Amino acid sequence: MVAWQRSHGRHHLPWQRTRDPYRVWLSEIMLQQTQVTTVLGYYERFLARFPDVAALAAAPEDEVFGLWSGLGYYSRARNLHRCAQEVVARFGGRFPHTAAELATLPGIGRSTAAAVAAFCFGERVAILDGNVRRVLARLLAYGGDLAVAANERALWTAADVLLPPADRPDDIAAYTQGLMDLGATICLPRRPDCLLCPVQALCRARAGGDVERYPVRSRKLRRTAQTLWVLLAQREEDGAVWLHKRPARGIWAGLWALPVFESREALLAACPSAAEPQDLPAFVHVLTHKDLHLHPVTAPFTSQQPAIEGSWVDADRWPALGLPAPVRRLLEQRA
Ligand code: ADE
Repeated sequence: MVAWQRSHGRHHLPWQRTRDPYRVWLSEIMLQQTQVTTVLGYYERFLARFPDVAALAAAPEDEVFGLWSGLGYYSRARNLHRCAQEVVARFGGRFPHTAAELATLPGIGRSTAAAVAAFCFGERVAILDGNVRRVLARLLAYGGDLAVAANERALWTAADVLLPPADRPDDIAAYTQGLMDLGATICLPRRPDCLLCPVQALCRARAGGDVERYPVRSRKLRRTAQTLWVLLAQREEDGAVWLHKRPARGIWAGLWALPVFESREALLAACPSAAEPQDLPAFVHVLTHKDLHLHPVTAPFTSQQPAIEGSWVDADRWPALGLPAPVRRLLEQRA
């Protein structure tokens, strides 16, 4: 795995050319649920604005959300900001050097902690993110249901056992990156490229002729659906829009958003009689656990304002706010 990573793995990603834990940590958080090609631009913009952990810790939360806008899974942005503040407050602005200490920080789980410790400090410690889980479950033909905590723990133990020897400390970074690269480019969920795999001869799933059977995971995400009516109130004289900051819990927590209502009647009740609401086409926005069926309604305002919490935000100010992706799209598309 180490030799393969050095000759065939990925080497030119911007976060691979550094051992700065701030940069490596930032990339790992961004890559948790987002593809490399999407992350690249966000990563560069983030670093240009927040070159180190102190700059990020000192930034207003809204600015962090603004730069994160479009990456999704906003709890990552909130934890990122909190983590930077804790690194400053608890560790004097320097990331701790062990996976065990890193895992005490907000948003850093066991696998992310291990990745940062291995890449930056050469700690011999196992990762097990979604891609690596698949690689190892196949290599070992591990058929236990990974929705069961005891089976997940067993795979962590196997990941520990498989680490390169302790007398080769330089190997751990290449090994860790190699597992990630294998999972992302060859050991794919569907139609894996086994002929290119450096461990094809060791792979028990391949020997059994049933690679795609692994990993086994029974629990399906239970999805729900919700219908929301979205008020796009615009001030006629200057095009300002009515926005409010969402509460810390629930959908779009902490982001700036258009007011939403459970029914059309509730939305209309927030508009004065002078406003003439107009329906825009409804659309579905998919969140992790929920399909949001969004029904936007535009309403022009002259002297009055909507009868719901919020404030007018000028057209030159909202683009920089942290907005949920569908709200941003609505504002960009409005007539
Ligand atoms: N996904 C998670 N961590 C990664 C890394 N270091 N390089 C590429 N993809 C990744």
